[in-house]
Amino acid sequence: MEIDYLTLSDFEKRDKRVLLRLDINCPLDPTTNQILDDTRIGSAKPTLDMLVDARVAVLSHQSRPGREDFTSLEQHSTLLQKHCTQRVRFIDDVMGPAARQAIKELKKGEVLVLDNVRLCAEENLQERGEKLTRTNLVRRLAPFFDLYVNDAFAAAHRSQASLVAFPYVLPSAAGKLMERELGALKRLLEEPDRPSTYVLGGAKIEDKVPVIENILSTRKGDHVLLGGVVGKVFLKAAGQRFNENEEEELAKSQQQVEKAKHILAKYKKQIIVPSDFGTLERGKRVNVPVEKMRGAGVSLDIGPRTTEDFARIINRSKTVVANGPIGVFEQEGFETGTRSLLESMANSNAFTVIGGGHLAGYAGILGIAEKFSHVSTAGGAMLSLLAGEELPAIVALVDAAKRHKRSSAES
Ligand code: 3PG
Ligand code: MG
Repeated sequence: MEIDYLTLSDFEKRDKRVLLRLDINCPLDPTTNQILDDTRIGSAKPTLDMLVDARVAVLSHQSRPGREDFTSLEQHSTLLQKHCTQRVRFIDDVMGPAARQAIKELKKGEVLVLDNVRLCAEENLQERGEKLTRTNLVRRLAPFFDLYVNDAFAAAHRSQASLVAFPYVLPSAAGKLMERELGALKRLLEEPDRPSTYVLGGAKIEDKVPVIENILSTRKGDHVLLGGVVGKVFLKAAGQRFNENEEEELAKSQQQVEKAKHILAKYKKQIIVPSDFGTLERGKRVNVPVEKMRGAGVSLDIGPRTTEDFARIINRSKTVVANGPIGVFEQEGFETGTRSLLESMANSNAFTVIGGGHLAGYAGILGIAEKFSHVSTAGGAMLSLLAGEELPAIVALVDAAKRHKRSSAES
């Protein structure tokens, strides 16, 4: 993917009115709706530090309409204040008269957090950027700004107005987090140090299968280690049987099992599936070899033999990428596979990248996050990029850069 965009250094920021798209979508406590982890909020600091002389309005989202955690951004703005030197204010409006008045009144060095942009029905459309320039959101807000900055890498795979339309009507730049994330992922997709190993787990198999296919067909990965549900899908594709409940679950993913069969037929050598599991039997963990899974309890972790095999491959690798936990680490007794994976990566000298909220969050809990070369704030956006897809928000920034260069050449 071409990623020739402009950055904050290409523009004068002093006194300018800047519309800053962040992704401060956070996990919330299901009972209190309080933010559980504010990593994404803290990640906005390098960009905000570059905008200390500007007048900044922040546009972001929290969850999606209809979900329990679809809240306002008020508590996000309180936490944002802790991470930056500017005065931060919140307004419970996105594009109405109150929001526009507050934007008009912004002083140099102030940050105004607008409310959850997904409160606007139009933001929930997925369309091309040029088409979304006709939304009320863009028509009402764009005239108030000199510059649009996109630092929402974790949402860059969404083609929504706040992410893809402003670059067609305003001078536009990538923020510091966006630059850092794309820099790390570019290294994986261009010239990774070999051997290069991908470890994929978690529940969303339909996001992982295209990554496995792309990484192996473009020869960017030498080994793909699979845990979590995706590991079971590939074992099933190879003819392995599980207990009745797990078979029922896997039957729902038949399409992915078929895809896995095709991938295995081509890349059997590079794909490593679990050879044993940690299963739950009468309230206790029991390790079971894969051949005995038919009569075993539910599998919640990879087993000790697989954990060792994975660690050995990771230790020999020069690039290691992991997305998604490889077991249900939240459940006591079933954290060993995921913890060992993170520790092997943290202790290696390889270029190491982890992504996906759960895995990155767990590295934080273990206190080893700073031992990775890069901890992505993204889950889905990182996977889209690794699957070889174009990220609509990046396409829009690249288009804006081309327009900017053309107009500079003409003047
Ligand atoms: C995320 O956390 O995945 C991003 O913030 C994008 O949100 P979405 O998946 O609801 O579009
Ligand atoms: Mg998501």
